[in-house]
This record gives sequence, C-alpha cells and structure tokens, in this order.
Amino acid sequence: WVICEPASDRKDLEVSTAAVAPLLATVATAVSEAIGRVRPEFAGADPVVRRSERADFQSNAALPLAKRSGEAPNRLAAELTGVIADPAVAEVRPSGPGFLNITVTDAALWTQLAARLGDARLGVGCPEHGQRIVIDYSAPNVAKEMHVGHLRTTIIGDGLARVFGFLGAEVVRANHLGDWGTQFGMLIQFIDENPEQPWHADDLGADSAVSALDGLYKAARARFDADPGFADRARARVVALQAGDPATVARWREIVAESEKAFGAIYDRLGVLLTPDDYAGESFYNPMLAETTAELLGKGVAVPSDGAVVVLSEQVTGPDDAPAALMVRKSDGGYGYDSTDLATIRYRIATLRADRLLYVTDSRQSLHFRLIFETARRAGWLTDAITVDHVAYGTILGPDGKPFKTRAGGTVRLMDLLDDAVAAARAVVAEKNPDLPAAELDAIAERAGIGAVKYADLSTSRVKDYMFDPARMTAFNGNTGVYLQYAHARIHSILRKAGEPDHARVDTAAPVEPAERALLLALDDFAAVLADVAATLEPHRLATYLYDLARTFTTFYDTCPVLTAPEPARTNRIALCRLTARTLAHGLDLLGIAAPARL
Ligand code: ARG
Repeated sequence: WVICEPASDRKDLEVSTAAVAPLLATVATAVSEAIGRVRPEFAGADPVVRRSERADFQSNAALPLAKRSGEAPNRLAAELTGVIADPAVAEVRPSGPGFLNITVTDAALWTQLAARLGDARLGVGCPEHGQRIVIDYSAPNVAKEMHVGHLRTTIIGDGLARVFGFLGAEVVRANHLGDWGTQFGMLIQFIDENPEQPWHADDLGADSAVSALDGLYKAARARFDADPGFADRARARVVALQAGDPATVARWREIVAESEKAFGAIYDRLGVLLTPDDYAGESFYNPMLAETTAELLGKGVAVPSDGAVVVLSEQVTGPDDAPAALMVRKSDGGYGYDSTDLATIRYRIATLRADRLLYVTDSRQSLHFRLIFETARRAGWLTDAITVDHVAYGTILGPDGKPFKTRAGGTVRLMDLLDDAVAAARAVVAEKNPDLPAAELDAIAERAGIGAVKYADLSTSRVKDYMFDPARMTAFNGNTGVYLQYAHARIHSILRKAGEPDHARVDTAAPVEPAERALLLALDDFAAVLADVAATLEPHRLATYLYDLARTFTTFYDTCPVLTAPEPARTNRIALCRLTARTLAHGLDLLGIAAPARL
C-alpha cells in the first residue's frame, strides 16, 4: 500500500499517513493467495471480489478460472473455500455454480472504522501515482460568452481532474481556449473603428464586458457582410495579426485578457480548479503548426489535395464513401481547428510527456477526435504506452426536451443558468428556514444552487442527455446535491449534540447490528468506487455512491439510536457518524461540491 505524494495543487488534501487498505482489498488478497495455493498456474489472476447482497463480499473467480482449466467451477470453488485464510474473514461459503460468499468478522469491521478515522485518505491508495494525465476541458471561446454548452465540459473535466489528482496522478489541466482565428481580424478592426463602444471589465464588470464583446463581434460580422470596404480592411487586419503587427497584437491580447476575466468569474462561481495558469489556448500552438504540417507531409501521413494539405482516414469513411479527412492546411495557407488539435496532441505527448490524454467535449466532436487520434498514431506520436480518450457527453435539454435555447431561440448564457438555479435554491431554503437573515440566505442559496447544478450534471450518466430543471435540481428530497449537502450537515448536527465532534474511539469487541454492518460496508467501498470512476471516466458512479451512502446512513439512524444508545454502542455509532460525514464531504469535494457543516 503506497504512500501518496500529494497532488501538487491540492494542499488541502496533503497527508503523510499511508492509506488503510479497505476490507474489500484484504478479502481480494486472501482470495488471490488461495488461488495461487490451489492452482499455482493461475497465480496473479483477478480474484473478482465485489460487495454482495447475500454475504458481505462475493468472489466470482472460480467461474472464469475453471473455464480455462476445463474443470467444474463448483469444485474449484469448494477447494478455494477451505484455503481462504485471513483474520478478517469469518466465513466462506460456496454457492450456485461456483460463487464464493465471504463474510468478515465484526471485529474486522470495527477495526476498519477505527483505522479509517485516523486515515486522512479514507482508505484510498494512489493507483494513479506516476501517471501524467492531461485533461482538456472547459475551453470557451474568446470574445464570446460562456454558454450552456460549456457547462458539462467544465464540470465533468473538473470532477475527473480532482479524482485523478486524489488517486495520485499528476494532472495537467489544459484549457484549450478558442483565442485564435481570422474572426479576430474582423473584431479588432471593428473595435478600432468604433472606439466609443465600451467593452472593458473595469467599466462594465467582467460578465457584462464579455457580453459587450460578444455584441461587438456580432456587429462586426454584420458589417463584414454588408460593407465590402470594411471586409477588405478586416482581411488586412487578419494579415497584420498573423504577421505580428504590434498594435494589432496588443489589441488582440487585450481582448483575450478581458474575456479571461469573465471566464474567471464563472470559474470562481462554479468553484472549479481552473486558474489563469491552465490556459493553453489555440494561439499557444500557432508557432508549431508549420512544423507539424511538414512532419505529417514528410511521413506521408498528410497529402496535398487541390492546394490544401489533408489527412485522409484509413478507417473512417464519410457519407459518400470517401475517406473522412482532417484539414491540416487550407488552400489559402491558413490553419484551422484540425491543424491546431494535431499540433496540440503532438505537443502534449512529445513535450508534456503525457501518459494519458483526456478530451472532455460533447459527443458531436467524436469523429473529429477519432481522426486526430488515428493521425497521431500513424505519425508515430501516439504509441500503445499512451492512453487517449474522448470523454464525450450528452446534451443539456430545455423544458421542451430539445437542446436548451432561450425563448427567442438564442444560446443560453451560463451565468443566467446559474442565476436561475440559485434563485430556485433560495426559494427552497427560505421555505425551510423562514427566519434566516437575507445575507445568510443568499450565501446558503448560492452554495446550494451551484452545488445542485453540478450534482445534477455529475449524477447523470455522462453520455445521456438531461433536462435543465432548476426546481428538480434543488429539491430537498431525491437524488440531488441539496439532499446530500443537507444529509451531511445533519450528521454534523448529531455530532455537535454528541459534544464530541472529533471523536475517533471505537470498541472493536462490540457486536455489529445489521444496519451498522450495511453502513460499515458502504463506507469500505469508497476506494473501489473512485477506482471505478477512473477506469470508466464516469463521475456519476461517485455521485450514485454518495447518494446510496446517505440513504444507508438514514436507515442506520432510523434503526440505531446514537445519542441515547448504551455504551459501547454509543461510542461506536458516533464514530460511524463521524466517518460517514467525512466520506460524504470528501466525496462531494471530489465532485467539486461544497459540503458545509451547517446549511
Ligand atoms: N473551443 C471549443 C468549443 O468551444 C472546444 C475545444 C475543445 N478542445 C480541443 N482540444 N479541441 O467548442
């Protein structure tokens, strides 16, 4: 069990203690050793241990192994039964065609609780230690407002960054800002010709400044289409920008900086980890485009085509049976989105030396990334030692079940969406606590509303579409962020009443009640669930776990009195409350959701 190096930017999670192995891991090791003893040829095989409804744990290892050796699975299971030995294991029983039902001792459950309370990592090891993983997420576009389409990438990407960081990976957050392209020539020209129009955060506030830029951008486009003289000046301005004309570049930088203020305001409000250091926008890769193109041509991966340079896919064909293609360089010599992503993947592998690359964008970009990955493989950049994934997600739908638009059919601003959720949370909290002073109500509503939006997103299976429904998201009951924040705060209020909020004593000789057992086993699962999130890139598995944990706690609390219980049950139950609260808080933190001790 390794000691984790703290993820560099999560000082709050810094710990010096080694993680305590969960019971699940102890049982898996015991089964694994038994397999090695009775069938040495299968040593090292997966013991396939899971939580089980019938006993505490179940191992399904005998079935696949017996298949390999051509023997009867129930015979192999019976043989393993007699050999599985660990002080934590109370009973092993073969069942069905070859399953093993494994029960652990009461003492092992209490010992695990005691150990966990002294373990800042809550039994979670560092399976990702030594991995450098680049997570491409958020990536809004300069001079445009962040909209509903940027919510999922920002939240899911951030959740994965937190989970991988906690599991010991070195995470590089890559905010691939759309900060380059011919549209900036047009915008800069328009701004210079209309100096009276305000667009600076100092004059307007960050949020309105980017709205103003967005408006100027639309006006510039209209002028471009209507006024050939302006169109010519705008084109000349693109050339000036690309040639590095100081005044033009200075203006472009200013536009980028003002836009970043607005993005920063959203990131602050959402409580995501992204900082200005994480911007590596499209312009960053601009100096690498020519050499990337030359390399792809030199390797024969890219080919000239009507004055342009393209990569024709060897695997994917388009609707007309022609190969799908990436545009490496346009016939006018310009570069675009495809070119930049090729230079980007090359840089992330060759210079950043990433072991793993994640791209968190909506599923409509899946063809684009398939082609980028295929090309990187053919160019020899991407090898089998490196894992790449397009972490695709579904669409946010409006109340009509169609992709979310404003009533007028426009794009929904991300800020407006957050305001709606906070307003809904405010109504819910005000109803529950009619006497709250306004300032306190505002603070709670903000936390609850933002938490609700994030939780609603992260608790939905990533590939599915979901409906943006502020009232449902902020409901006190049901699988919502507010419910979990409330469940967590309620445990803290129990601990406050117990008068021992830092209590960590456990009597390991006490018998375990069924509801205590269910809760202890649920708590034991935390590490396995995080490993599962990392393996599947599906944060909703953590959300579902936390929801189930909160409900298991409720059943425990309904059946097992805590404060009025006789000793040693009282002591042990307070410890159970304590660990449940910590696990909920830590889990919510990994989803980027606040878990205040009081709501
Ligand atoms: N800026 C793009 C957009 O708003 C997303 C970029 C995603 N990342 C990438 N490496 N292509 O759609």
